[in-house]
Amino acid sequence: MTELKTIGVVGAGLMGHGIAQVSAQAGYEVVLVDADGAALEKGLGVVRGQVEKAVAKEKLGAADGEAILARLTGATDVAALAGCDMVIEAIVENLEAKNGLWRTLDEAVQPSCIFATNTSSLAVIDQAAVTSRPDRFIGLHFFNPVQVMRLVEVVRTIAASDEAVRAGIAYGERIGKTAVETRDRAGFLVNRILVPFMLDAIRGFEEGIGSIEAIDAGFRLGAGHPMGPLTLNDFVGLETLSRAAEGMYEEYRDARFATPPLLRKMIAAGWYGKKTGLGFYDWSGPEPVPNPKIDLLRTV
Ligand code: 3HC
Repeated sequence: MTELKTIGVVGAGLMGHGIAQVSAQAGYEVVLVDADGAALEKGLGVVRGQVEKAVAKEKLGAADGEAILARLTGATDVAALAGCDMVIEAIVENLEAKNGLWRTLDEAVQPSCIFATNTSSLAVIDQAAVTSRPDRFIGLHFFNPVQVMRLVEVVRTIAASDEAVRAGIAYGERIGKTAVETRDRAGFLVNRILVPFMLDAIRGFEEGIGSIEAIDAGFRLGAGHPMGPLTLNDFVGLETLSRAAEGMYEEYRDARFATPPLLRKMIAAGWYGKKTGLGFYDWSGPEPVPNPKIDLLRTV
């Protein structure tokens, strides 16, 4: 199996900057691309801040920190990815946008390069099929925060070669994750079960089973979850959750994946969770407090 040396990451947002960081930490040369220069600088800045924090806490030597940052370069043009051995996309969860990117990358990046999508809810073959290399196209699904969560799902499509899947697993292991191979079914392994749960917490709240705090405390204290499901929704991002749910609803036509009315209304109001300051919680203060306006949107 050819060893991967240079990893390209497209999209410098919540997932993309984390994928770039863990890849650089594992010794890969990394090129992080975002067409939006401000988003690119923000993503690179977060990585720099985290590496500097690790050095300050003496979890990382100063020279190692510098070497990690030296391995990471940013660009706004996909031409910078031409020589990569693997390119991972972490752009918006929208099939047309992803396929537009893959068509461009297919022309711009060397033919031997493996393509990997970080989709959380779309079938991978639908992206592989628009490229000239469906055998070298896999899913690599990371979890937020990428720097902390220890799993990566490696998705094998019906067209993927054993070599591409093995390369994905080897990459996952080298970045220090447990790599689990999954089938190319929308939602793969974790989101197939987690997304209906996250949506059900919203439905339960709509039905009045308990307050925001009670539902979250229920799962933290009663089921040992690190954060309650409504906090998790804010943390993942409500529009991201809804896009993931819609992707799976499209695929399965199963009501478990339908966006609950309250979630749709919160997104319409611009409440995307932690990233916009309002979601199930108000994140603007030192500690999150339940969003005082949310009762206005409840359906019961
Ligand atoms: N980036 C980098 N490091 C982070 C981080 C971030 N965003 N958030 C926390 N950390 C690090 C901290 O720096 C700290 O490191 P240290 O021990 O070296 O100082 C360590 O993680 C622990 O952080 P905290 O003490 O601040 O907080 P917690 O112990 O409460 O852990 C958490 C925070 C890891 C986010 C934990 O609450 C958790 O595991 N929550 C559940 C997350 C989850 O379920 N993620 C999956 C979401 S679903 C998904 O991503 C799929 C998508 O497709 C929908």
